[in-house]
Amino acid sequence: MRVLESRFVQDFINMADDGWRLGWHERNGGNLSYRIKEHEVAAIADRFNDHAEWHPIGASVPGLAGEYFLVTGTGKYFRNIKVDPEASLGIIELDEKGENYRVRWGYAEGGLPTSELPTHLLNHEVKKRVTDGKHRIIYHAHCTNVIALSFVLPLTDEVFTRELWEMATECPVVFPEGVGVVPWMVPGGRAIGVETSKLMEKYNAVIWAMHGIFCSGETFDLTFGLMHTIEKAAEILVKVMSMGHRKAQTITPQNFRDLAEGFHITLDERFLYEKGEHIPGTE
Ligand code: 13P
Ligand code: ZN
Repeated sequence: MRVLESRFVQDFINMADDGWRLGWHERNGGNLSYRIKEHEVAAIADRFNDHAEWHPIGASVPGLAGEYFLVTGTGKYFRNIKVDPEASLGIIELDEKGENYRVRWGYAEGGLPTSELPTHLLNHEVKKRVTDGKHRIIYHAHCTNVIALSFVLPLTDEVFTRELWEMATECPVVFPEGVGVVPWMVPGGRAIGVETSKLMEKYNAVIWAMHGIFCSGETFDLTFGLMHTIEKAAEILVKVMSMGHRKAQTITPQNFRDLAEGFHITLDERFLYEKGEHIPGTE
């Protein structure tokens, strides 16, 4: 089977293109990875290159030893993924220690996986463990409104979760566990990956201050839908703040408790604080 005919490759390309069209991927901004299922690898293995050299991942992910990933290339534009997938994407295989990778397909004009590979793989390793292997997608996007909020809101999980929840009644239903926040850090290495993956133990979305978001999910639809819901809530908040930041009414802590009961979800009381002088999460 041709790699580009695989359903997971087509879904990957369509999702990347949706992100591009929503304006989240200026230039080479953002990256996407999918942990390929065994039967999907088997169906395309005869197309793989057998002579690729091994490269260090830059992080150790023993929980992913021997796994294959479809990953966007570093420096590649989301704009071009649909136009030229073979040049923009690649399939990598991890070694038996989870310390090195080699390119088995793609990056046709030369290239390597995203510079955020350590963060992608550290997140995949955590999510594979905590979701019993269900989560397969890690998506990083430069969503404009979330980035804007990271300049004006206190950078705590509590404040971001609560402010985003308040902006649309669906939000606590879509991400009842909340969102994590990583303060500004140098991207493209292991350190930011470690901080992000710690938060991925309990959240499916982690905001990188002044940079973007990472989302994790089971399917392309769920992962994209999570990113889209968070960014939409952020856009509403930016509009509300732009109108003078005087909310005449809002969704209250008690409303959230009622919502949790109605939708059979658990919302941590940590996010349902009474607003006042004290900034939650800074103690
Ligand atoms: P890459 O082109 O290496 O994927 O980097 C883009 C990016 O968003 C870095 O955070
Ligand atoms: Zn980025």
